[in-house]
Amino acid sequence: MKHTESRLLRSVLYVPASQKRVLEKAPKLKADALILDLEDSVSPQAKAEARQLACETLLRVPEDALVRTVRINGLSTDWWSEDITTVFPGQPDGIVVPKVDGVESLKPLDDQLSHMEKSLVCEYRPSIWAMIESPLGVINAHAIASHPRVSCLVMGTSDLIAALGVRAGVDRSNLAMALQQSVLAAKAAGVPILDGVFLDLKDGEGFETQCREGAGLGFAGKTVIHPSQVGPANALFLPSDDEIARARNTLVLWRKAQQRGEEICLVEGVLVERLHARRAAIILKSVGEISDFSTI
Ligand code: COA
Ligand code: MG
Repeated sequence: MKHTESRLLRSVLYVPASQKRVLEKAPKLKADALILDLEDSVSPQAKAEARQLACETLLRVPEDALVRTVRINGLSTDWWSEDITTVFPGQPDGIVVPKVDGVESLKPLDDQLSHMEKSLVCEYRPSIWAMIESPLGVINAHAIASHPRVSCLVMGTSDLIAALGVRAGVDRSNLAMALQQSVLAAKAAGVPILDGVFLDLKDGEGFETQCREGAGLGFAGKTVIHPSQVGPANALFLPSDDEIARARNTLVLWRKAQQRGEEICLVEGVLVERLHARRAAIILKSVGEISDFSTI
């Protein structure tokens, strides 16, 4: 079965991997996930050191604390392969790949990852988070999301806005079709999708408006660039009352099934397995109803 990210991804913080101080702060900011960036926020001269710093950060931050990913340089650059080789020992949960225009472009990366996995004694298989940030990427989003290693799509709205030659702002009616088509593609492939960044750090209200819009469209969360955006994103991408009620019911019935020694049960006529119970527990943890679900 296709692996998809089952943990919460309400706030996903970009962290320039060349900056030691930000790398130290980032894991403590209560973001659901980090993207340690080797691409656009790192100058060509700083790439080599940033790779090392990213790997050290991964090794320092426990994998169950939050979702840890690295954004490598684009697959048409000379940098991406060494990005992977250097950060691989840190075992990131995901490799964020910028500017994915078509599924075929993922092959060299998939091959390199498969090759490196074979040399390991432990089981480790990083997933790919593919960035959709060009008109072609939007058009091909379903094929990209359906690649067996892709577990998440990430909107790259700044590049998309530049490619479309449209204005950036709080109002995104000029991106509506691209956003919705990408959401449809992700949902059809069964993977979550993250909304793009909001760059105006002075406009907290505008940021919240975009979070509400993103949550309403079906995004799992928002990529963010600053600590001040983490709290609002966590609050505004909370699960709905219906989802919470369904999660409660699921967990109660699945625990009863467990007591009977069974691994599956029916909830409102729908088959529930351990992965659904785990997802339900994640939802309840996000609203503070339970504190631990390590036994599920
Ligand atoms: N992750 C973790 N910590 C961050 C952070 C981030 N993305 N952005 C800022 N901080 C920290 C700063 O280090 C600072 O901490 P300190 O006071 O203890 O030193 C604190 O938050 C306040 O930062 P502030 O002074 O308001 O911002 P800044 O001027 O230092 O930085 C940006 C502003 C936009 C340059 C910075 O937030 C940033 O680099 N964001 C990420 C950009 C990025 O990755 N872009 C690529 C994808 S679009
Ligand atoms: Mg980009």
